[in-house]
Amino acid sequence: MKRWQYDLRNVISLTALIISTTLIPNTLMAGAVEDGIISRIQAVGNICIEGHACAEALMAAPSGPRSAEEVYNSGCMACHTSGAAGAPKFRDVAAWSTRLDKGLEMLYSNAINGIGAMPAKGLCPKCSDEEIEIAVDYMLEGI
Ligand code: HEC
Repeated sequence: MKRWQYDLRNVISLTALIISTTLIPNTLMAGAVEDGIISRIQAVGNICIEGHACAEALMAAPSGPRSAEEVYNSGCMACHTSGAAGAPKFRDVAAWSTRLDKGLEMLYSNAINGIGAMPAKGLCPKCSDEEIEIAVDYMLEGI
């Protein structure tokens, strides 16, 4: 082999080496970097469209009104379990029977608007009227 042929082969193989070590990994890396960017953007900009699986979870999210027990425990229990400030105690027949003479509608209305030391809606200002009413029913259960 002539010297110039030998040199040329070296140049060619060196060029091939440079191309394979720089260009190929670069394009592969570029793909990986791009995928990373896409997945990071998606985390914020992912859009849920009605009919897609992700939207079903969102549609199911509104949990509806709180249960009577939840309202009582978070808003009414503080006073009505102990009878603080003269509050009629939870499911106490003697404490409630005279109040019940006013009629259930009046009790609902007083619970919603407040009466004496009883604050409007107890300690649950974000409760709906309906939630207060079911909490009253819950306190009166069995009476
Ligand atoms: C800060 C204490 C307190 C909290 C909290 C509270 N109550 Fe009362 N509640 C009272 C007191 C005191 C009375 C008695 C008021 C009176 O007759 O002067 C009362 C009375 C009532 C009555 C009878 C009203 C009547 O006309 O005789 C109902 C019904 C009632 N509360 C429902 C509730 C409900 C439902 C909650 C929770 C959403 C609640 N209360 C939270 C203190 C409280």
